[in-house]
Amino acid sequence: MRADIDVEVREVGLRDGLQSVSTFFPSAEKIAWIRAEAACGMPEIEVCSFVPPKLIPQFTDAAEVVAAALAIPRLSVSALTPNLKGALRGFETGVHKLNYVTSVSESHNQSNVRRSTAESVDDFRRIVEAREQHPQASGTRLGAGLSTAWGCSIEGPVDPDATLELARKFVEAGADELAICDTVGYANPTEVKALLERVVAEFGESVDIAAHFHDTRGLGLANVYAALEAGVVRFDATLGGLGGCPYAPNATGNIVMDDLVFLLEGAGLRTGVDLDALVEVREIIARNLPDEKLHGMYALAGAPKGFHPASPPA
Ligand code: COA
Ligand code: ZN
Repeated sequence: MRADIDVEVREVGLRDGLQSVSTFFPSAEKIAWIRAEAACGMPEIEVCSFVPPKLIPQFTDAAEVVAAALAIPRLSVSALTPNLKGALRGFETGVHKLNYVTSVSESHNQSNVRRSTAESVDDFRRIVEAREQHPQASGTRLGAGLSTAWGCSIEGPVDPDATLELARKFVEAGADELAICDTVGYANPTEVKALLERVVAEFGESVDIAAHFHDTRGLGLANVYAALEAGVVRFDATLGGLGGCPYAPNATGNIVMDDLVFLLEGAGLRTGVDLDALVEVREIIARNLPDEKLHGMYALAGAPKGFHPASPPA
């Protein structure tokens, strides 16, 4: 964590948002978005996904986008991978961090990555080994994302013990970070606090802990606040709440980055992000995806009178 920030927010719209958007977002515009958001002070951006281009054509340009992002000073650049093959593609680029994804729920893991969670953990072990042998990968950190950590749209509620058990396997396998993800918006603040307190107590000394919430049922920011109370200081979000679920057309997706920054800055927590400059960056999404609904109340209402963000102006 940088010394000048209290809470690290991480933009994941270029991955979690764009993966469900069928319109190709031109590479130059993706890069413009990354540069503009980095210029607002965003410390980390997940810029793409190393998945089969046939499966998600949106990420055909993954290596090119990572290369452009790595040229931006002070920006930490991450990308998602679902398997070893994607990790090897990522290692070639010299990306700063690879976020590996596994669902706590077996059925969700099968539907997302076509194998059991046990097989996903085995593949992660191979990624850790491959990193040791790869000349470009010595500086690449490995994040383990635990999807459906509180609930699953196929199996319903998820047992917190199952999430902890899977977290333990990833930490033992060599993960540098755990991202606990409410992929389908099932969690409420009481459950968030209860689970994350256990995660922080057990793993907080050895790895970075992040939380990833969706606002599917309107509890996203309340869940952030509960996670803060549990001691979590790293949060994913997407600008304008880009994302959502292809199976629930009216559902909102990820929590809104702009509203998240407003919440944190108002609470006196420095994110290092210039909020009003950030709101301007929404325009890059709007001009490329005119049919996507953008979310966010701060962008609509503006700052309340006398609002003083905790971060000094950029
Ligand atoms: N990047 C590029 N190509 C890849 C790849 C990767 N990460 N992983 C597999 N491939 C290729 C294989 O080489 C193979 O190519 P071929 O048909 O030319 O031989 C083909 O894709 C199928 O490979 P296989 O290992 O059988 O994969 P699969 O069909 O069982 O799919 C995943 C498994 C994990 C690759 C796929 O389910 C996936 O990408 N899931 C992620 C979905 C996602 O992004 N969800 C949202 C994020 S949480
Ligand atoms: Zn997500």
